[in-house]
Amino acid sequence: MSLHQILFLICFAINILPGSTLVLPRTNSTSACGKISVVFTGLPPFHPLVAAQGFNSSQVNAGLRNDAADILAAGYNLKVVLMGPEIPIEILKAESSDRSYDGAGIGFGVRGSNSLNMTIRMEQILQTFRETNPNAPVVLDQSPVTGIDAVKRRFPLQSNCANSPGQNLGFDVICNICGTQ
Ligand SMILES: *[C@@H]1O[C@H](CO)[C@@H](O)[C@H](O)[C@H]1NC(C)=O
Ligand SMILES: *[C@@H]1O[C@H](CO)[C@@H](O)[C@H](O)[C@H]1NC(C)=O
Ligand SMILES: *[C@@H]1O[C@H](CO)[C@@H](O)[C@H](O)[C@H]1NC(C)=O
Repeated sequence: MSLHQILFLICFAINILPGSTLVLPRTNSTSACGKISVVFTGLPPFHPLVAAQGFNSSQVNAGLRNDAADILAAGYNLKVVLMGPEIPIEILKAESSDRSYDGAGIGFGVRGSNSLNMTIRMEQILQTFRETNPNAPVVLDQSPVTGIDAVKRRFPLQSNCANSPGQNLGFDVICNICGTQ
């Protein structure tokens, strides 16, 4: 037996031990409609850093609002906090401290940006969520309309929540330098 095969067997054995912490956090446990609360942050659609990344702000605006509506309709409680790196991070700290959130989302405009300011802001966001909601997994989308996929992926619900949508906890756009549609 090669060293690789032995290592594989050891890893395999560890993984199937009950309570092993090496198992990925993807589980089959499901939650009831309206029981999962998510705070999602990202850039305001009409922030200059959105256009600077090559996105169409009007399309981002429509996409984000549709995505938020989809998340609520799917049965999740949702707060959206959109702000650029020029806004003090303490604002996000306050916005994400009003209740206990189960999940913490970060939009692609933050995650995908190669600007130094946005990279530093991403670090600040992660640290903030760690402080305000230490047990909330971070969830990530890959476009303005895939927050719903990120939330569903991490927090599967027990049933179709068509008749019991989640609670809208706010769609806050905090910006002094944004243009308008
Ligand atoms: C857990 O979910 C996976 C993927 O959806 C499925 O294949 C598996 O059968 C489920 N296991 C249980 C115990 O429900
Ligand atoms: C952005 O998208 C909107 C809606 O699709 C379109 O009307 C507008 O021309 C686009 N703007 C730019 C700068 O491409
Ligand atoms: C980065 O942020 C600083 C402080 O807000 C600002 O002065 C600077 O113009 C920003 N840099 C870029 C490239 O946006």
